Amino acid sequence: MGKVVAGNWKMHHGPVAAAAFFSRFKPRFAPDSVEILFFPPDLSLAASMETAAVPAGFGVQNIHSAKEGAFTGETSAEMARGAGARFALIGHSERRHVFGEGDAEVSAKAGAAVRAGLIPVVCVGELLGERRAGHLEQVLRRQVGAIVEAVAAASRFMVAYEPVWAIGTGETATPGDAAEAHAIVRSALGELASAPILYGGSVKPGNARSLMSAPDVDGVLVGGASLDPDVFGRIVEAGAAAESVNPVREP
Ligand code: 13P
Repeated sequence: MGKVVAGNWKMHHGPVAAAAFFSRFKPRFAPDSVEILFFPPDLSLAASMETAAVPAGFGVQNIHSAKEGAFTGETSAEMARGAGARFALIGHSERRHVFGEGDAEVSAKAGAAVRAGLIPVVCVGELLGERRAGHLEQVLRRQVGAIVEAVAAASRFMVAYEPVWAIGTGETATPGDAAEAHAIVRSALGELASAPILYGGSVKPGNARSLMSAPDVDGVLVGGASLDPDVFGRIVEAGAAAESVNPVREP
């Protein structure tokens, strides 16, 4: 399988903008060379799925861990699945650090996603202070350790390594930094080590190919650069090109 190139639109692109995006999104890549995923806002999921002309998987950016209930403003995994989502981001750094989700909540959400038949894409990553203090490995092992049981029964799942200091800052981990962190994540995954591990944090057309050519980097999770169809299309093309120069994942 080729690289995974995923776009997390965060709170951008309502239904009209989503349809406009897909009217212009026409990357050139060989079929099967890249798996494209989109995480639009919930309210744009239907418009996105209806207007996408390129084969792509769709998911939601967050779910609640309960099936239903008095949780104003929340969406359950079952509802997301019912609306056509196949994937769910779980524990994105903005959920952890802006909305205060801890490891236990992230684990509960991962379990809820699996039970609803969604493919969890669990996000992990260290703060700058944690990296500077030499705690990279400890943080990643803790975050991955918190979810392995919850996703053990999943037919498929992915991890996204997103160093918090590289998100939306223009600072990017080097391919070497990414490879080092991904190797830690893979080791922490134990029996689940074959899961794809995506890198996220200021991925752009100019760095996407070298990042995806690094050992253990199976794809990218792109924020800001996924909002423009031409820019994101160039990252998709970089993913198609990277596969041929990364022998690490060749069967
Ligand atoms: P940026 O690509 O904007 O840094 O965001 C990364 C991210 O958080 C993707 O989930």
